[in-house]
Order: sequence, then structure tokens, then C-alpha cells
Amino acid sequence: MTTVLVTGGAGFIGSHLADRLLAEGHRVVSVDDLSSGRIANLAEARGYGKEFTFFNMDVRAEGLLPLFERHRPEVVFHLAAHVGAGQSLTDPITSASVNVMGTLNVLECATRVGARKIVYAASGGSLYGEPRRLPVKETAAQGSFPLTPYGISKKVVLDYLGVYHRYRGLDYTALALANVYGPRQDPACGGVVAVFAASMLAGEAPTIFGDGNQTRDFVFIDDAVHAFVRAIDQGSAKLVNIGTGLETSVNHVFRTLADIIGFPGEPLYGPPRPGDPRRIALDIGRAASAIAWKPWTHLEDGLAETVAYLKGV
Ligand SMILES: NC(=O)c1ccc[n+]([C@@H]2O[C@H](COP(=O)([O-])OP(=O)(O)OC[C@H]3O[C@@H](n4cnc5c(N)ncnc54)[C@H](O)[C@@H]3O)[C@@H](O)[C@H]2O)c1
Repeated sequence: MTTVLVTGGAGFIGSHLADRLLAEGHRVVSVDDLSSGRIANLAEARGYGKEFTFFNMDVRAEGLLPLFERHRPEVVFHLAAHVGAGQSLTDPITSASVNVMGTLNVLECATRVGARKIVYAASGGSLYGEPRRLPVKETAAQGSFPLTPYGISKKVVLDYLGVYHRYRGLDYTALALANVYGPRQDPACGGVVAVFAASMLAGEAPTIFGDGNQTRDFVFIDDAVHAFVRAIDQGSAKLVNIGTGLETSVNHVFRTLADIIGFPGEPLYGPPRPGDPRRIALDIGRAASAIAWKPWTHLEDGLAETVAYLKGV
């Protein structure tokens, strides 16, 4: 049994990851300040009793080091982040504080207690800015221009990971996640699938920002979590895209969800949001070779499962 630590462990992806790690027999220490995560997401993990420990703590806190010293995790999954890309345009300081300084605190703590590896939740949707070629390969990260302070804060961590690997002996895998969707995603935090589904289930037309022909790469939560688990022993010192390689328009997501839910109306359209790329899809060739990963869930099935969760069935 390995002790692992998950930051952002009460969030959408972090809580699913904790559940999966516990199911695989690991001891899981979860750290989250509950700024966007929820205790309710920990219901399954708490069922594992002593194998699961939760700390309500900010990753920037000085108390993080004693916590690491007490639990001595072998692998650290770093998912805690200030996640609002749009919000970061008006509050770039908070996003840098949590996403850069918070990450440095996690890297320092991991190094000081001799952790073997950090698996980092990078952002494939923002890292590459407006890519010239699709699907975009990891090599495009060099010289890319993220469109938001959030994207910048997530990108700069990749350089820190390289330095900690080279000079401090901390291995890493950075997973550049596409648009992850699925059960537990909080509509209040802005994931397009959760927002659209919640509003249609309430009988209200969702608002599409822009003409809806902008594309995203949607990857289901279980597939994303599987990539984190694969990265425990594979993908050393690599940036790895985690997506489907497919471009899906926001209009298509609306139509598919409307069919599943039986929503008869049309969407509303609003002005495009600053910082939103026009088109994105991630090349996933490296994920196959570096961590033996490929996506498994079809969009329609993943959307149906998300709707079922939101309906409480
Ligand atoms: N969901 C996606 O589509 C997506 C795509 C690319 C990258 N990511 C990355 O994956 C990670 C998880 O995202 P998510 O979608 O689960 O979002 P989320 O908001 O559900 O999870 C983030 C968690 O971090 C916690 N947190 C925030 N600031 C903190 C702090 N200072 N100290 C401790 N905890 C803090 C929040 O309470 C929350 O539980 C993030 O790093 C995000 O940048 C997500």
C-alpha cells in the first residue's frame, strides 16, 4: 500500500481521483480549502475509514509542511487551483497566488519529505492559447501564448516542474487535461456541460457565449482519472495531453444534451467571452506511448451519465 496525497481532493476531479486511488488500495491524504470543492464530494472516500484523511487547508499555508512530514506521501497529485479562467482576467493576483505560489509550496513540501513523484493537473485547454494546428501536440507548448492569466499560471508550473526534476530529484508527469466533464462537476464553477445540463433540467435555456461553433475537446471524468493513475509509474518527466483528439462544437454539446434531457427550446446566444480560444483539440499520441492511455467513453454516454447524476438518479 502506498500513501498518496491529493491536493484539490474535494473538487470535481480530485474527489473522483481519491475514490479511485482508495479503491486500488492506496492510503489517501486529501488537502483542500473548500473554496470551490465540497465536503459532499467526499462521501464515498469517507467510507474507507482510516485509509482516507481529509485536511481543510490552503496549499499556500505554512502548515502544509508538517502535514507532509507526518504523512510522507510517495506520490503527490496536485490538482488544487484557482480554476476560473475568465475570473483570472479580473483577478490575476489570486490565480497566480494559488496556482504559482501554492504550487511552489507543494513542490517544496514534496521535495523536503522525499516524495518520489508529482502528478500535475495542467490545462490543455489554456496552455496552447490559439493553436495553429489541430489536434495540438505537446511540443506546441514551447512558445505558446495562453490567453488568460489562469493559462499563464498553469503554464509556468511546467517550467518549475522541470527544474525540480533536474535539481531536486522530484519526478513528475504533467497531464494537460482537455475539457473534463462528468458527475460532481459544479455548475456554479462554469464547466459548459454542467452549466447547460443544470439549466435545461431546470427548464431554462442556457446561454451560449459566441456563435456556438467554437470547439472544445471533451473528455469524461473516469477517463481523465485513469490517466492520473497511469502516471503513478509512467510518463516520467513528461507533459502529456489528455483528451480525445476530437473537436466538438458547443452547439453540438447543447443539441446532444437537449436530446438526452428532452429540452424542447433553443439556446440563448450572448457575446463571446474574452480569453476563450476559438478551436481546440488535443493530440493524444503521446498519452498512448508514454502512459499507455487512451480515452474510452463516447461523448453521448458520458453526457447521459452526467445528466443522470444531476437528476439524482
Ligand atoms: N475540469 C477541467 O476541465 C480541467 C481542465 C484542465 C485542467 N484542470 C485542472 O484540474 C484541477 C482540478 O480542477 P477541477 O475541475 O476538479 O476544479 P475544482 O474547482 O472542482 O477543483 C479544484 C479544487 O482545488 C481547491 N482549491 C482551490 N484553491 C485552493 C487552495 N488555495 N488550497 C487548497 N485547495 C484549493 C478547491 O476547493 C477545489 O476543490 C485544477 O488544477 C484545474 O486547473 C481542470
